[in-house]
Amino acid sequence: MTLPLIKRLQALAATVLLGLGCSLSLATEAPPTPPAALLKDLPPLGETWRVDNPYRGDARVAAIGRSLYNESCARCHGPEGDATRYVGNDLRMLDIYCHRRIEDPAVRAHCVRDNDDFFKLSVLEGKRRAGVTHMPAWKDVLSQEAIWAIRTFLESRRPAKGDKLPSGAGG
Ligand code: HEC
Repeated sequence: MTLPLIKRLQALAATVLLGLGCSLSLATEAPPTPPAALLKDLPPLGETWRVDNPYRGDARVAAIGRSLYNESCARCHGPEGDATRYVGNDLRMLDIYCHRRIEDPAVRAHCVRDNDDFFKLSVLEGKRRAGVTHMPAWKDVLSQEAIWAIRTFLESRRPAKGDKLPSGAGG
């Protein structure tokens, strides 16, 4: 079926506006402050930012991170980190390259540390490009403890060696 050009342009404009409106309204919504009850069980880290995720591999922290993640991040990065049908990146995959492609333990640790820094900065500052907020900044909302707890949860969700990766994931 061939629509007249003007109709096709109208449909295109509507789709673009709808898409933009959707991501803008998501992005400008005030991020919720996590309930204190969730945060009180996280080991305190003080003011100075750690270079590496200090909670890495801690299952108890990952469980708290899971609630924090599902409350603050899931609406864009997918429930439980599965972003297959969501606007944000699949954050379970952040370290997949380090773990699947790098054999040397020291180089791998460096790769993961690099991602710690990228994760921390992305979350603190948010993502803003060409005047559009793709992701809000969390620096006034989430503590260092909360951010590392979320990272710990997402690391626990990384597909194990041999598991099939979601389509589109690198590694
Ligand atoms: C309003 C939707 C939205 C919310 C809520 C949101 N994000 Fe994002 N996030 C995005 C989008 C979209 C991108 C990709 C942006 C880009 O690259 O321009 C992104 C990118 C990221 C990245 C960089 C990933 C990469 O591989 O480039 C990280 C890390 C991240 N988000 C973590 C989080 C965490 C943690 C939370 C919860 C505290 C969160 N986001 C909440 C939309 C969101």
